[in-house]
Order: sequence, then C-alpha cells, then structure tokens
Amino acid sequence: MTVARKMPMTKNSAELNYNDRGLELPVLEGSEGELGLDINKLRQDTGLVTLDHGFMNTAACTSAITFLDGERGILRYRGYPIEELAEKSSFMEVAYLLIYGELPTAAQMKSFTQAINAQSQTKPELQSMIQAFPRDAHPMGVLGSVLSAMSAYYPEYLDQDLSAEKASQVMTQLMAQVKNFAAFTYRTGRKEPLVQAQSSRYDYCTDFLQMMHGQEPDPEVVKALNVLLILHADHEQNCSTSTVRLVGSSKANIYAAIAAGVGALWGPLHGGANQAVIEMLQEIQADGGGYKKFIQKAKDKNDSFRLMGFGHRVYKNFDPRARIIKQSCDAVLAKLKIKDPLLDIAKGLEEEALKDPYFVERKLYPNVDFYSGIIYKALNIPTNMFTVMFALGRLPGWLAQWKEMAESKDTKIGRPRQIYTGAVERSYKPLSSR
Ligand code: CMC
Repeated sequence: MTVARKMPMTKNSAELNYNDRGLELPVLEGSEGELGLDINKLRQDTGLVTLDHGFMNTAACTSAITFLDGERGILRYRGYPIEELAEKSSFMEVAYLLIYGELPTAAQMKSFTQAINAQSQTKPELQSMIQAFPRDAHPMGVLGSVLSAMSAYYPEYLDQDLSAEKASQVMTQLMAQVKNFAAFTYRTGRKEPLVQAQSSRYDYCTDFLQMMHGQEPDPEVVKALNVLLILHADHEQNCSTSTVRLVGSSKANIYAAIAAGVGALWGPLHGGANQAVIEMLQEIQADGGGYKKFIQKAKDKNDSFRLMGFGHRVYKNFDPRARIIKQSCDAVLAKLKIKDPLLDIAKGLEEEALKDPYFVERKLYPNVDFYSGIIYKALNIPTNMFTVMFALGRLPGWLAQWKEMAESKDTKIGRPRQIYTGAVERSYKPLSSR
C-alpha cells in the first residue's frame, strides 16, 4: 500500500514580521518538488488567521493520490500519467489503483471485481425509492438522496472508525450501487422497467450500459465509457472531493460524505458544467450557429454568461483530459458513424476563443467538460444524466480520498476560520419597540 510520506522540511523558511516580532515559517516540499509554507503555528504565535477566498492558495491536506501540475498540463494518478492509463488501462483497474495505491495483480483484480459483483443487487426498498421520485427529477438529486438513504439500510457501516475490512466492503458496495442507481434513475425517468445488474456476465461498464439501454452495448461504446470514467476518476482537492473529506473529517458515515460530494459536484461551475456545455451549444445552434456573439457575451462583465467548459482553477496551459477527450470524441463519432453539428460548433467556438486576447490573457482553455457531453450524447445518454456520469467516474477518487483522510494521523475536523464583518455588540429591543 502506498502511504503519504511525511512532507520533509526544506532548509528554507519564510519570515513573517508582525508587531515587531519575526516568525519563522517552515517551507515544506512535496514529492514532485512543489513547495508549501507551513502556517500551522501562525494563529498560536501571532493571533492572526489567513484569508484565502476559494482556497486559491491553501493546501488543506497532504495527499499521495493524484499529482496535478496546472502550468505543465500534467495529471498523474499514483504516479501514472493519465494519458497512459486512458490508453492502456480499464476503469476498474484505475479504481483499484486510486483506492489501494498500486496497480492490482491479476489475483487482486479478480477479488476486487468479485467483491463489487457480490454486492451488485440493490435492495428493493432502494429501487422503489428511486421509482418514487417524479419522472423529471434531476438524476443528481435522486443519486444524492438514495446515497444518504443507504445509511438507513446498512447500519453495520456507520461506525465512526471502520475496520480496514469493513471500509473495503463499503467502498466496493458503493462502486456496485452507484452504477445501479445511475442506471435505475435513467430507466425511471423514461418510464421504463428497471434492468437488473448482470455483473457475473459483464464487466462494470458493459453492465452499466446494458442496465441503461436494456441491450448489450457496442464494444466501441464500452471502450469510450472506460476512457471517460478513467479521465474523471480523481482530480485532487477539487470542490466535491474537498467536500467529501470535510464531511468525513467530522466522522460522519461514508454515505453522508459521498452524498455531500454528489451535491458539490452538481453545480455548473464543477461537474454540472458538462450538462451546461451541451445546453450552451444547443442555444448557439438555435441562435443560428454564430458563436462570436456568445464569445462577446462571455467577455462582457455586465453579463453573467460564461463560456461553459472553459477555464480551470488549476490548469493554466491546457487540460490534459480535454486533449484526450477531444481525440476520443472524433474517434467515437467516426466509429459510430454519427455526425453531430454540435461538435462543429464546439470546435469553431474553441478555435475562436483561443485566438481571443480575453481568453489568452486569462489562460482560459477548454476543460474536461467541453467535449465530454458530445461523447455522452453519442453514447445515447441524455443531457441531464451527464453529471451523474461524472459522479460515477469520480466515485473511486472520492473513496480513495475518504480512505486517505480516515487513515491519516494528521486529519483534524475541517473547521475554517473567518474574519467577522457583521454588527458589533448591541442590545436586544422588544418587537413592540422596533
Ligand atoms: N468564461 C468567461 N470568462 C471566464 C471563464 C469562462 N468560462 N472562466 C473564467 N473566466 C474569467 C473570469 O471572469 C475572471 O476574469 P477577471 O480576471 O477579468 O475577473 C478570470 O477569467 C478568472 O476566473 P475565476 O472565476 O476567478 O477563476 P476560478 O479559478 O475561480 O474559476 C472556473 C474556475 C472553472 C470555475 C471558471 O473558469 C468557470 O466558471 N468556468 C466555466 C465552468 C466550467 O467549465 N467548469 C468546469 C471546470 S472543469 C471540471 C471540474 O473539474 O469541475
């Protein structure tokens, strides 16, 4: 098992001068040479806190799972480049790698898959719960609710400190169940009878697609889905992953933590962007296909419109996932003999935006979500299911990060500080005198 190594202190330190006092802040170095200022003693020694809107500069933890270098467009899971994993690996193999730290041996792969398969039937109560939602309920709302509800049915996994064995059981259970919930939600939305898992017959992605569409999928479609899920599988301390860790840090159960991650992912600035991209491309198409007007809108500071699928907090050169997805998009559409005019609009929009000084100066490039929706559409997955697909892919990453958080001796309950800007003390006046 790969364990996060303790961050070594460098010989360097930074000095902070405050109130005629100098405070030496150690500089720590990660395994890829990235440096961080250790401010753990800042408040204790100076009474100061730091203010960092959106955690632009704050590392909330050390982690040995995913390395990301936004300037150089590098993404690696446990040291393995995303390009290699997307080309050569399977989603199940990547899930194991993320959770347990090493690529599985054939025997480990077999027992991991068997553990998932052994938990691939969904309790009838949970199936009925999915079917009880309104037909047009957003699948992310349904997924989050059913995940929370699992806590009512599996009290054996609610302990504050799960044993390693139980933690493995509940993680494989979630891998099996989220796949089912996603497929059941899709079928329910279409008023179609549920199709049960056939995990002893099919691999994970094939099973998911047969549960959705009620027939064996084209192997090309299965291959494309594997790539998409691998690309989404982890992305270090993003909004939803930080949410999973934060909720988990209170020792709330894993169902609560993962359900919270689903909630965070739903937003259009995060995982919800893939749905928003397709809606934007359709809007452009309905408007006659002239994307220049939309680029102007995105640049206008008085207009809240943003070019969805563009920009990233960390990637400031290119998103390596977007490059792979763009190629995969061309390949999938060609193999399935699909001609989607939205792809032409997307390519035109990208070309135009990448020439525009507004986007160039701000280093705004297409992100993973820009082309993923076009592939999902080609795979016959409806727009409101796109973010659930992201959740299915991100699940092993959330589980790996939750496990690392739960096992780390450095974990403390997540509890940020604030700088209060409200009213100073005043006296209560009765209602009659206000
Ligand atoms: N369209 C137009 N302007 C943009 C965009 C955009 N998509 N993204 C950023 N900007 C501008 C922004 O207005 C700001 O300009 P200025 O400096 O003049 O005020 C500047 O670029 C920096 O943006 P920011 O909002 O401060 O950057 P951030 O790091 O806080 O936000 C982001 C990152 C991804 C939320 C943002 O780029 C965005 O809203 N993109 C569109 C939504 C999207 O595609 N999200 C998916 C992200 S990838 C999947 C995932 O991992 O979640």
